[in-house]
Amino acid sequence: LHIVHIAAEIAPVAKVGGLGDVVLGLSKALQRKGHLVEIVLPKYDCLQEDQIIELKALDVAVESFFDGQLFKNKIWVGIVEGLPVYFIEPHHPSKFFWRGEFYGEHDDFKRFSFFSRAALELLYQAGKKPDIIHCHDWQTAFVAPLYWDIYAAKGFNSARICFTCHNFEYQGTAHFSELSSCGLDIQRLNRPDRMQDNSVPDRINPLKGAIVFSNIVTTVSPTYAQEVCTPEGGRGLHGTLRLHSKKFVGVLNGIDTDSWNPSTDIILPVQYSADELQGKAENKRALRTQLELSSADAFQPLVCCITRLVPQKGVHLIRHAIYQTVELGGQFVLLGSSPVAHIQRDFEGIASHFKNHPHVRLLLKYDDALSHMIYAASDMFIIPSLFEPCGLTQMIAMRYGSVPIVRRTGGLNDSVFDVDDDSIPVQYRNGFTFLTPNEQELNNAMERAFKYYKKSPENWQKLVQKIMRLDFSWESSAQQYEELYEKTVTRARAAAN
Ligand code: GLC
Repeated sequence: LHIVHIAAEIAPVAKVGGLGDVVLGLSKALQRKGHLVEIVLPKYDCLQEDQIIELKALDVAVESFFDGQLFKNKIWVGIVEGLPVYFIEPHHPSKFFWRGEFYGEHDDFKRFSFFSRAALELLYQAGKKPDIIHCHDWQTAFVAPLYWDIYAAKGFNSARICFTCHNFEYQGTAHFSELSSCGLDIQRLNRPDRMQDNSVPDRINPLKGAIVFSNIVTTVSPTYAQEVCTPEGGRGLHGTLRLHSKKFVGVLNGIDTDSWNPSTDIILPVQYSADELQGKAENKRALRTQLELSSADAFQPLVCCITRLVPQKGVHLIRHAIYQTVELGGQFVLLGSSPVAHIQRDFEGIASHFKNHPHVRLLLKYDDALSHMIYAASDMFIIPSLFEPCGLTQMIAMRYGSVPIVRRTGGLNDSVFDVDDDSIPVQYRNGFTFLTPNEQELNNAMERAFKYYKKSPENWQKLVQKIMRLDFSWESSAQQYEELYEKTVTRARAAAN
């Protein structure tokens, strides 16, 4: 199949969060399966250009429509980890992607509706005939309605549209009048069964438009797919999702098992594997030395957390886990920062409270190399999210032999199974979980983990080896996407004949 991903992120050149990893990991896995995969992204000024091979501008510009005019787009093409990526640089006075950041601008709706239109225009003018156009999150949600309303009518109709929502919290709503800038028809689309927001009638909801107009709609885990179909989890879109439930499915993400591999990870002082586990203890020693934590007791459990500090992640429970770890006699390392000023301030306060403490270190920043060290050094990994569409850190932690302690929600519920849960076959049990997001339940899970750790080092080691051998690679997820694509394409071809 010829598959084109249109997205706002791809790791490592444009990454804010898990979305960038997924666009990269899924594309690579589909390419390995023999498909032709191409990707379209904005040409942000803050791209990590040193990660792009042979980046060059094409001779011909692509003109695309916006606000009643045509704007010239310079098209760049380069190779990212073996994948061809097109970057669109608009020639528009608002300098949409010349802002020093990826998102969070007051005119994000304009920036990304412009991008969605230009991306389709690029494919159309280049004469491409993809079988699948795969879009991600609200920033590219305009593609589906644009495609069916404007491009299919021009004869560019080879493709079916697959849309993946990585987080239903972000829907991109705006006043309905903004919709016409990219050429969409307000009269036709500002209706309850199309793009009108379900809660505020004078607002237009791009995410809803993608659900209504795409051929396949997915989200990033089966449990989250169920949660968003309920009033509590759906953020106003549960009704729309239920209406379109036949084409909606949850597919659990994978992780890039090449870059996350403790037996080849050159960032680690010592490589190790499930069969050769000694190196893990050495990484723990190295991290403790580097962070000036006490290393008096090699068997003192090291609990870690790597996260963006946003409410979704259960920040009050992360905060509690720090104190609880000290209480239980462990050590705690946190790596992560917050885009929310008061949360960042709060954690800066905790960090200075624990300054020079022998058992606690808070590193309030983003640091990829350090994250590898922390995965390798830690014994336990804590993720108390209030909701979690998929979550990738629990899978990375397990690959590095760090036992997850998680709240049972979304993708965490699909990848972590409690060691003490008799209803689950023993071979699947791989961590400690709790359901209600409060301190007591978190304490309970942590206490059970500490007990397990202290009771029998042999059993703990067996658990560590077991989780390191679990398969979280992209292969099975990519296969599920492949099946979804193929079913849709076959159905479309049958209908055309
Ligand atoms: C979002 C979600 C996260 C998911 C990631 C990749 O960042 O919050 O749970 O793992 O997207 O799909």
